[in-house]
Amino acid sequence: MKITVVGTGYVGLACTAFVRKGHEIVCVDIDANKIAMLERGEIPILEPGLSDLIADGRSSGLLSFTTNLAEALKGADVCFICVGTPPLPDGSADLRFVETAMGSVKALKESTTIVVIKSTVPVGTCARLGAVSNPEFLREGRAIEDFLHPDRIVIGTDDESAKKKLLELYASFDCPKLVMSPASSELTKYAANGFLATKISFINEIANLCDCVGANVLDVAQAIGLDSRIGPHFLHAGLGYGGSCFPKDTVALHQIAGSHDHDFRLLEAVISANKQQRARFVQKVFKRTSPGDVLAVWGLAFKAGTDDVRESAAIEIVHRLMQSGYKVRVFDPMAMEGAKKIVHDRDVFVSSALMAVNGVDALLVLTEWPEFRDVDFDEVRRSMKQPRIFDGRNLLADLALEKRGFEYVGVGLGQRV
Ligand code: UGA
Repeated sequence: MKITVVGTGYVGLACTAFVRKGHEIVCVDIDANKIAMLERGEIPILEPGLSDLIADGRSSGLLSFTTNLAEALKGADVCFICVGTPPLPDGSADLRFVETAMGSVKALKESTTIVVIKSTVPVGTCARLGAVSNPEFLREGRAIEDFLHPDRIVIGTDDESAKKKLLELYASFDCPKLVMSPASSELTKYAANGFLATKISFINEIANLCDCVGANVLDVAQAIGLDSRIGPHFLHAGLGYGGSCFPKDTVALHQIAGSHDHDFRLLEAVISANKQQRARFVQKVFKRTSPGDVLAVWGLAFKAGTDDVRESAAIEIVHRLMQSGYKVRVFDPMAMEGAKKIVHDRDVFVSSALMAVNGVDALLVLTEWPEFRDVDFDEVRRSMKQPRIFDGRNLLADLALEKRGFEYVGVGLGQRV
């Protein structure tokens, strides 16, 4: 099939994986610089496998990039709208980009082209704009893998010919394909993210309780996760969820409910617990340190495996510490460039995990990069002024750091902090 993809963000670029299924893809964006970059083989986001995918796609002739929408839509079987839906001040999704893209596509497309919205949009949008809903559940850092091997594919349409074409497009994907109404499909996306966010806030609250009663959240999470009805995933206590999706989508879902006079109090609690989780961690640091102290920070990305710092707990915590009179020295293996656009004091950035800890009063671990576990902690202890670690991700919890001379504080490890 010939597929047009409008928007070259995470979701749009992940759609290039359709070339692995033998489809022809044309990606369109209004940003001429981005298209020029992609044409030169430069990839604007860090995503494992994407670079090879784009190189293979271009050399096989199945993948191309353009700013010319009319050209891109010629002979297209399906057109995916993958533009951003950033939050408005009231938390609802800003549909400007989706509506503009839909308007242009409708004006230029051939009568047989099926228009599909992959962007996360409020319930009712696809029916109103005359598009099929086909939400994406991919995770940053695993986008290509998730795209090619999804747990399920959700198609929201009442139109028989659209249903037939999309089932044909996804025929070689080995997973359940669920066809439902556009409203159910749109709500599925929010419900999935809302549920995962709920799991995270729940385990974080259990972790906070563990700190009060002297229990260990790692043991509790493992034990409840072995119940097949609960499952082991998304039970890592820490600093709460960040990134470009959960914070935005939970607030948008709450707003959608409110606009239908439905008081979604559970979700409100999830959102508020998430905010408090960061504040609670900062309070732990404040309790044991003083303004003027120098703190090392390991990790700036919103999670490991990405250079994305959007809604990153680490960035918010760094700002809080700086505003409170602390000196910080930060290091992240991948997210330094992105962080420099938000944290304007260049002096805080250092080029290795070991450089960050030299002479500091405490080390804060804010992103769960696995390589931080491999650092020589005897050298870390010798370098630090005070051998004290606050681990916001419980990344180092099993390394017996107390035995190696550290004061070690995690999240919910039963340390009555
Ligand atoms: C999330 C969803 O997992 C995807 O399915 C969805 O498609 C995507 O949002 C989206 O809507 O586009 P992503 O934002 O890449 O994907 O990140 P996750 O891996 O889900 O992590 C989100 C946040 O939760 C991170 O800050 C992570 O550190 C945190 N988290 C995750 C925890 O604190 N504990 C956990 O157990 C799991």
